Amino acid sequence: MRTQVGIVGAGPAGLVLAQILRVQGVESVVLEAHSRDYVEHRIRAGVLEQPTADLLAEVGAGERLHREGIVHRGVELQFAGERHRIALSELAGGAGIVIYGQTEVVKDLIQLRLDSGAPLLFEAEDVGLRGIETDRPVIAFTHDGRRQELECDLVAGCDGFHGVCRPSIPGGVLRESSREYPFGWLGILADVAPSNDELVYAHSERGFALLSLRSPTLSRLYLQCAPGEDIGLWPDERIWEELQRRLGVPGWTLHEGPVLEKGVTGMRSFVVEPMHHGRLFLAGDAAHIVPPTGAKGLNLAIADAAVLAEAITTWYETGSRALLDGYSTVCLRRVWRAEHFSWWMTSMLHLTPGGDPFDERLQLSQLRYVTASRAAATTLAENYVGLAGARA
Ligand code: APR
Ligand code: PHB
Repeated sequence: MRTQVGIVGAGPAGLVLAQILRVQGVESVVLEAHSRDYVEHRIRAGVLEQPTADLLAEVGAGERLHREGIVHRGVELQFAGERHRIALSELAGGAGIVIYGQTEVVKDLIQLRLDSGAPLLFEAEDVGLRGIETDRPVIAFTHDGRRQELECDLVAGCDGFHGVCRPSIPGGVLRESSREYPFGWLGILADVAPSNDELVYAHSERGFALLSLRSPTLSRLYLQCAPGEDIGLWPDERIWEELQRRLGVPGWTLHEGPVLEKGVTGMRSFVVEPMHHGRLFLAGDAAHIVPPTGAKGLNLAIADAAVLAEAITTWYETGSRALLDGYSTVCLRRVWRAEHFSWWMTSMLHLTPGGDPFDERLQLSQLRYVTASRAAATTLAENYVGLAGARA
């Protein structure tokens, strides 16, 4: 088999890249390790920055997003038992966020791909790369029990943090920067109307909590927990009780409902530089991870894919490698802005296990400043809606 661009991974990065390339007339083959059903039912984040929503619409993936996505123009920060609104749109030149699950973005993109007849192979096993330092990289994989080879001009490593692409780059080429956090998030999806019109990020003496949503009838809620927390220790009643304690404010009710899904995620920051080597280009979680506070992961993955797609189509059209060579530099500016923002939001809102009272007083001072000063609130707003990335 031969193609122009071999794409490993059918998450948001791989699927958006494949979609833009197809619209621009560049051939690709997408290889995904899991089944379609698995990929379409993984519960992930759900906040699209305005530029991300615009991009999806531009590349033809905006129809259901436009119909079902819920536009939010503010978020709330809660601390010392009170809520304070950050007026995102007012502070960030009219931009807002769109609530639409990553799972839904992925479903829409898979449908578009399959409708177009372009190749997307699920359950591609034992994917391995060869010759990324040559002009003819090869992706070997097993599909339907048959070992196959896909020869490409370029390979896009969109296979997430645990994928095979980043580790195929020889040792000593990539510089890794990372940070582990001493906590995780326990998340639930609940069959109950959201109890608040906007997201609530809550700092509390018992730890962080977040109220979010997926639709007018589905709530998404998170609790700070230990990094490797055993979900078995958290029956639904205990989760609701803890959410009530951390999110509760006088005169407001957190509505409870059946828990449809629950899980624990670790939190880390991670970046590799550069994001390419030879003919292999990394995009999304394969190159960088942010903690979920601030909801940047999905947006970064899609932004990488858009930059890479433009570089690839320009290369085919003009023969110039300039944009491909600049891919990493362009992406890393936005990536590091998001790394800083999500680290900052995380540090401001979570209880550090064993932390001393000094840390907590600093957090509260920062929260008061962010909600009281228009300048500080604007910093949060333009990072949150995704405008700061373009200015980084
Ligand atoms: N071969 C083929 N596919 C693979 C392999 C492999 N060896 N390893 C992983 N994959 C697939 C995964 O099954 C997954 O579908 O690559 C895909 C990577 O998708 P994501 O993890 O969604 O990563 P990305 O597209 O970069 O999107 C980042 O996802 O994890 C969230 O918070 C993150 O929102 C962010 C977004
Ligand atoms: C979510 O709805 O899943 C969500 C929202 C905001 C975040 C992280 C996750 O910061």
